[in-house]
Amino acid sequence: MRLSVVLAVAPLLFSAGIVLASEDVVGIMAANGCVNCHGSEGRGSDVGNIPPLFGHSREFLVVALNGYKSGSLHGTVMNRVMKDVDEKKIEVLANYFSSIK
Ligand code: HEC
Repeated sequence: MRLSVVLAVAPLLFSAGIVLASEDVVGIMAANGCVNCHGSEGRGSDVGNIPPLFGHSREFLVVALNGYKSGSLHGTVMNRVMKDVDEKKIEVLANYFSSIK
């Protein structure tokens, strides 16, 4: 009984894993609130002076996000936001926003 349940669920887990990999950036943006301020495509907003994130190079984004994380850059909110975002997530975010034209 148990084995058949495992066998039935295994393909679901496998395909869910693939979906998760492609949605990684969505999960990171939701968990850290990026999407609430910058929008899902990083278009920014005049309300609250939210800068756009798309159209920047990957390098710019990595330097900016690490700068807020380390405190070498001073923002109003970004220093607090970046505390919980690790190197791996910074890479994913920088790749994503630099790919949006
Ligand atoms: C509460 C709103 C808010 C949240 C949440 C937020 N940001 Fe920001 N972001 C800002 C503001 C405002 C600035 C301008 C710097 C500052 O005041 O902190 C900024 C600046 C930036 C910049 C620098 C842009 C530039 O042109 O210099 C990047 C990159 C960035 N945010 C990425 C992110 C990412 C990635 C996340 C999620 C991990 C995130 N932000 C979450 C509001 C937010």
